[in-house]
Amino acid sequence: MAATAAAGAAAAPPPRQSKLEPREELRVEVPPDASLRVRLVAGTAEIFGTELPPEGWVSIPPRSKIAIFSWHGATLELDGPTESEYPSVETPMVIYVNTHAILDARRARARAAAAQGGDLEASQGPRVIVVGPTDSGKSTLCRMLLSWAAKLGWKPTYVDLDIGQGSITIPGCISATPIEKPIDIVDGIPLEMPLVYFYGHPTPSINPDVYKVFMKELAKTLERQFSGNAESRAAGMVINTMGWVEGLGYELLLNAIETFKANVVLVLGQEKLWKMLKDAVQSKPNIDVVKLQKSEGVVLRNSKYRQKTRSFRIKEYFYGIANDLAPHSNIVNFSDVSVYRIGGGHQAPRSALPIGAEPVADPTRLVAVNISTDMIHTVLAISYAKEPDEIISSNVAGFIHVTDVDIQRKKLTYIAPCPGDLPSRLLIASSLTWYEA
Ligand SMILES: Nc1ncnc2c1ncn2[C@@H]1O[C@H](COP(=O)(O)OP(=O)(O)O)[C@@H](O)[C@H]1O
Ligand SMILES: [Mg+2]
Repeated sequence: MAATAAAGAAAAPPPRQSKLEPREELRVEVPPDASLRVRLVAGTAEIFGTELPPEGWVSIPPRSKIAIFSWHGATLELDGPTESEYPSVETPMVIYVNTHAILDARRARARAAAAQGGDLEASQGPRVIVVGPTDSGKSTLCRMLLSWAAKLGWKPTYVDLDIGQGSITIPGCISATPIEKPIDIVDGIPLEMPLVYFYGHPTPSINPDVYKVFMKELAKTLERQFSGNAESRAAGMVINTMGWVEGLGYELLLNAIETFKANVVLVLGQEKLWKMLKDAVQSKPNIDVVKLQKSEGVVLRNSKYRQKTRSFRIKEYFYGIANDLAPHSNIVNFSDVSVYRIGGGHQAPRSALPIGAEPVADPTRLVAVNISTDMIHTVLAISYAKEPDEIISSNVAGFIHVTDVDIQRKKLTYIAPCPGDLPSRLLIASSLTWYEA
């Protein structure tokens, strides 16, 4: 892979035109070390639900794997190297856009009900949850559904439960944000006002109870926002999930459906999962479980690639997608901050328990941790909590990356995306690391 990428980068092809027939897409993989410029010459085309502008070049970042799709035909101009580049007319786009149309009708019905003073149930738009194994195109479908809805003026709420990849903010978080316009092709999900809960690990198996607690907190907060905002209530939610669909992963999916009161479950590319979910929710008449075809264009990514993208997401948070931001380095005294870890920690000693009781570790217990050199290279979240015991129910303001710990002088050096003091002294430790190359 690396060799072909390097060769491709060395021999960048000249700018070239590519013609798309109606309902055809051009699938492109951009190499890791260069970006690709794309320009619409004639017709219309979109990338994952967001239209290419009628004029000017769009710079697709390194490592992107995209499809440029046209409903009515288009001529494109491409400038830069690609790792692969091929057209296909076999896409599930018509099925996806029909799904969007059904959701749109439900949103309109919810809005009409709200205008007539309908109850909370009638004025609730679709709460769509997208599930399926890894690399089935979940994140991509979420993106299309959100962008198509936003293009029609809706402001759906995007909820990302995938702590492995993280499309709203860094991995290890579950988060939500309103989508007010089609998602930017280059910049991705807008970062202005996400609601973020920090779980701190890339997999839920480390502490599934905490993952559930955070889902509950996020759902509670969204429910509160919806009750005061008929517009976002009618627009509903699009919920992205992890690709872990077996065992505990499956249990967490069921938990997510229930917690967020999802009423549309879109299952991508797995008959068995569709059947299992359909059977599991059949007692609840208000949930539609729909099987959708997966796109052959979805690119398979191995675990090493995933691990790499995780690192890149963390880097992007501090340095910007185009590597054009400079993070601010700062130093605090150990005594200026308090770092906590959620869960883990030692269980109560037997001697402290009533006779006969077995010690159990409380998975949501908060443990104060000493700052040590082990924290170098890890990410810490800054909690909005006022008191430590509020940490578990609080969302976070942002993240810092620890670059040095000086035990002797009791000083911690970190980088943050903005200058100035930390907005809070309560920090949450994590197992997320990132090594500056
Ligand atoms: N039709 C397509 N053509 C080319 N690449 C695609 C297409 N659909 C999805 N991709 C890419 O495939 C990768 C995996 O898709 P993604 O939606 O992230 O899968 P999942 O969320 O199920 O793991 C992503 O890099 C995405 O950009
Ligand atoms: Mg995904």
